Amino acid sequence: MLVSAKEMLQKAKAGHYAVGQFNINNLEWTKAILLTAQENNSPVILGVSEGAGKYMAGYKTVVGMVNGMLEELNITVPVALHLDHGSYEGCLKCVEAGFSSIMYDGSHSPIDENVANTKKLVEICAEHGMSLEAEVGSIGGEEDGVVGMGECADPQECKRIADLGIDFLAAGIGNIHGKYPANWKGLSFETLDAVQQLTGDMPLVLHGGTGIPTDMIQKAISLGVAKINVNTECQLAFAAATREYIEAGKDQQGKGFDPRKLLAPGFDAIKATVKEKMEIFGSINKA
Ligand code: G3H
Ligand code: ZN
Repeated sequence: MLVSAKEMLQKAKAGHYAVGQFNINNLEWTKAILLTAQENNSPVILGVSEGAGKYMAGYKTVVGMVNGMLEELNITVPVALHLDHGSYEGCLKCVEAGFSSIMYDGSHSPIDENVANTKKLVEICAEHGMSLEAEVGSIGGEEDGVVGMGECADPQECKRIADLGIDFLAAGIGNIHGKYPANWKGLSFETLDAVQQLTGDMPLVLHGGTGIPTDMIQKAISLGVAKINVNTECQLAFAAATREYIEAGKDQQGKGFDPRKLLAPGFDAIKATVKEKMEIFGSINKA
């Protein structure tokens, strides 16, 4: 059954590794990520953006699909189902739908509004045994129409939000959703260290995991990051593998057009990407 992400992230922070949040986009993504986590004995967080939730026919559909897979695939590693970059209303819908974790992304609002809404959700999540992520300092790039500037969080604002009783915190440190531009200046480890100094044992979250070099990932983990989000990299791997299959004309050979065959190379590419990230994050055999 689903678990909150609280315990797995506290364990990761204490053990100096990170748990991957891999965003799901459909059945194939969900199955690929769950099987990879089980095969590698790794905890995992399935992330669902509001746009992906809508695409997959609603949060209740997602919950039913994930719970069904946990049972049918005999998944025994810790799995959290987590709303990613949720609005306040989206958070309430996911609580009602049966998610085990939510992110309230109040980073685009004035800090007092972020604090007020986060405070309300802390109480709601406590009542439901769910974990809660909050964000300060918007993540750069664009995801599901949410465009962030990639600003660095104010460590004092991070402390204000952390002190509300959330379970883990996403602090903007110059990270960006999607592909990183060639002129990207890198992560602000100075900001991350300042945030960790003020938030203590709070597991920190690194969004925009696609394309961040391994040495930066490992330095971020050493400075308190215990959850790392990845979406674009799996999408790019899926697209490349599918393109290769079609350009080789395999969709026109025999029953190659069967979606169970057509989607297989992309499925395998997601699995390979997720496993590679779990190795870099250090979560293998940590279930
Ligand atoms: O919240 C989701 C992640 O931050 C996705 O980031 O698409 O750059 O890997 P990414
Ligand atoms: Zn994100």
